[in-house]
Amino acid sequence: MDGENHSIVSQFVFLGLSDSWEIQCLLFVSSSVLYVVSILGNMLILLTVTFDSHLHSPMYILLANLSLIDLGFGSVTAPKMICDLFRKRKLISFGGCIAQIFLIHAFGGTEMVLLIAMAFDRYVAICKPLHYLTIMNSRMCIFLLIVAWIIGLIHSLVQLAFVVNLPFCGPNELDSFFCDLPRFIKLACTETYRLQFMVTANSGFISLGSFCVLIISYIFILVTVQKRSSGASSKALSTLAAHITVVVLFFGPLIFFYTWPFPTSSLDKFLAIFDAVLTPFLNPVIYTFRNKEMKLAMGRVCSQILKKLV
Ligand SMILES: *[C@@H]1O[C@H](CO)[C@@H](O)[C@H](O)[C@H]1NC(C)=O
Repeated sequence: MDGENHSIVSQFVFLGLSDSWEIQCLLFVSSSVLYVVSILGNMLILLTVTFDSHLHSPMYILLANLSLIDLGFGSVTAPKMICDLFRKRKLISFGGCIAQIFLIHAFGGTEMVLLIAMAFDRYVAICKPLHYLTIMNSRMCIFLLIVAWIIGLIHSLVQLAFVVNLPFCGPNELDSFFCDLPRFIKLACTETYRLQFMVTANSGFISLGSFCVLIISYIFILVTVQKRSSGASSKALSTLAAHITVVVLFFGPLIFFYTWPFPTSSLDKFLAIFDAVLTPFLNPVIYTFRNKEMKLAMGRVCSQILKKLV
């Protein structure tokens, strides 16, 4: 047996989300709309922050980088899921599956660290306003971004290192619509109990850890804001509320997904849609619709684009 190549499975079959035609239609329409809107919304944020000189401050530069990550994160799973909905056999190659796992964890891990960087930016702005410009200079921004990408990539590579050499010989059906690690590992024809534990611990640790750091820092900022006079603090509160909403919506499903020990297949899958399609859509909505400056700038950029086109 030793030395023999066990990996005779060269592609995987997704079982998809549902057999019911009505639910598939509903998912098709809602996911397509959400995906297209999230692409447009994130592109608009990127364009606005890049071309509007009023928005060249750390908060908006980090936000534009978040949009960039959301564009990538949303595009790893959503397009294939939408195209697959009405296909009888939903196939993905072995390499495609590995690529999906890698990209999801790289973008996801980076997004988590970036959210922490954005919380840090708000902390400095609100708790140390006099030092804001010296602390959050452009070198600091670049540094935070590089750290975010390095942590995201390392997290993802570590996950892959565990699974890339697993032997696959048996069933190749994944009860999902994309390659996610817990289900992928279960298909390997070897004892995977310890591996599952490590992968869950790795993802659970990074998501639960970042979530706790974020919640604690926002509580800290909120307490600081509370002590101040009300004028400036109501603006700060509305920005903070936007950040906290994104954090809860992004991490809620993820933490459930990785730390809930008993996979309950249908709930899992629908929560996964939540992260795949809804988060990249919600970020631009939440960050911009609560922000007057951003809305004004978007209006200016849109009218400039229209002028050039006409
Ligand atoms: C992301 O952040 C870097 C570093 O601050 C900045 O130079 C870059 O313009 C940002 N990216 C976008 C798309 O705004």
